[in-house]
Amino acid sequence: MDDFSATNRDHWDELAELHPSTPLYDVDGFLAGESSLMDLEREELGSVEGNSLLHLQCHFGMDTLSWAREGATVTGVDFSPKAIEMARELRDEAGIDAERATFVESDVYELTDNLDGEFDVVFTSYGTISWLSDIDRWAEIIDHFLTPGGTFYIAEIHPVVGAVEKTNEQWAKFEYPYFSDEVHRFDDDKGYASDDTIENGTTFFWAHTTGDILNALIGAGLDIEFVHELPKICYQRFPNLVEGDDRWWRFPGGEPDIPMTLSVKATKRE
Ligand SMILES: C[S@@+](CC[C@H](N)C(=O)[O-])C[C@H]1O[C@@H](n2cnc3c(N)ncnc32)[C@H](O)[C@@H]1O
Repeated sequence: MDDFSATNRDHWDELAELHPSTPLYDVDGFLAGESSLMDLEREELGSVEGNSLLHLQCHFGMDTLSWAREGATVTGVDFSPKAIEMARELRDEAGIDAERATFVESDVYELTDNLDGEFDVVFTSYGTISWLSDIDRWAEIIDHFLTPGGTFYIAEIHPVVGAVEKTNEQWAKFEYPYFSDEVHRFDDDKGYASDDTIENGTTFFWAHTTGDILNALIGAGLDIEFVHELPKICYQRFPNLVEGDDRWWRFPGGEPDIPMTLSVKATKRE
C-alpha cells in the first residue's frame, strides 16, 4: 500500500467509527427494517433476488446488508479494517445470516489476491471513484469478478461535483480541475456526515471524468446499457441544497443546473 492509500485508510477508519451514530447514516432506521439504498439504484439495478452481489468500497456495510435483505448473497469489500469490523457487527445486530453476507478487508487493487469467485452483480456507489488512482485497473477488476452476462452498476456523485467547492445563489463556484491526471490533497478537520472534528483530516484523491469512467468500462470489455446524469444528490454537498421527501437533495428552483449524480449500468459479454 502506498502513502496516499495509507493516509486515506486512516481517514476512513476514523469515519467508519463515527458514521454509524450520524443522522446521515440512519442505523436505527436500518435496524428497524428500512433500506439504506436510494430509490435510484433499487429501480435501475432491479431485482437481485437469488443473485450473488459484490459490493466494492462498502464502508460499514449498510447498503451491502440492504441488498442482502432484497434477496442477494452479498460480499462487501473495503480497505478500512474498522469499516469491515463495523459491517460484521451491524450484520449480526440486524440478524442477517453470515453465510448470506461476507465482508472482506482489501484494497480494491489487491482484491484478486484476497477474493475468489465470480458474481452476478458488481455494485458500487456514492463516494468511491475519487479514491481510486487508476480507473482502468478498477474496470479490469470489475470485469474479473463478473460472471459472463453479469451486471455492473454504479450510482456515483457526478464527477462535475468534485470540481465544485461552493455555491452562491447565482451559480456554483468551480474550484478544482475537472480534467487532471494528478493526485490532489485535501485537508479538512471535519467529515461529510457530521460536524465532529476528526484527527485524520488529510486525504488524497483523483479526478476521473465521466468519459474516463465510461471508457475504462468499455476498455475492460463491458457493454454499457445506459448512462444517466441527474440534477440531485444523496447528501447536502452544497449549503443551499434542499432535501425532498425522497431523501434526494436539490437546488431550490432547480438552479444551478449541474449534474450531481451519475449512474451507469453495464454487462459483461457472454
Ligand atoms: C464514501 S464511502 C462509500 C460510500 C458508501 N456508498 C456508503 O455511504 O456507505 C468510501 C469507501 O471507500 C473505501 N475505500 C477508499 N479507497 C479504497 C480502496 N482503494 N480500496 C478499498 N476501499 C476503499 C473507504 O474505506 C470508504 O469506506
